[in-house]
Amino acid sequence: MAKVSMTVNGKAASGDVEGRTLLSAFLREALGLTGTHVGCDTSQCGACVVHVDGLAVKACTMLALEAEGAEVATIEGQANADGSLNTIQQAFQDHHGLQCGFCTPGMVMSAAALLKDNPKPSEAEVRDYLEGNLCRCTGYHNIVKAIMAASGQDVSAIAAG
Ligand code: FES
Ligand code: FES
Repeated sequence: MAKVSMTVNGKAASGDVEGRTLLSAFLREALGLTGTHVGCDTSQCGACVVHVDGLAVKACTMLALEAEGAEVATIEGQANADGSLNTIQQAFQDHHGLQCGFCTPGMVMSAAALLKDNPKPSEAEVRDYLEGNLCRCTGYHNIVKAIMAASGQDVSAIAAG
């Protein structure tokens, strides 16, 4: 076992982990941050996306020890300070961008990373960026719409999914 320390959603976090412990397991099991979902064991689904030092990362593809000293952001830290949904979360609600919700934390974290780099993405750019995030329920249409709405673009011309 080895000690790992990082900042998670602005707070210091540390714990003892095995060398093989994944960041996703550390967040969920050691810190209780179960909003980071694990939907596969093949690094394909994207339900586990978090931000590590500002970059979107599949937390199941990174060892906890690799995040030593990093700034990690998870879905639990995305709401506004008063507890209300942030712009992206609210847009998912407003545009029915989720059904079962299993993929949603990863979708929201990926969307946040996309909009940071590309504040007004086209529909094609959103779809391209979400290539690593799978959703079994929605057909993606309303997720794309929600992300474009969160970017402040008029989505009224996009048909309902
Ligand atoms: S759990 Fe990480 S990609 Fe599926
Ligand atoms: S809302 Fe169910 S998997 Fe995406």
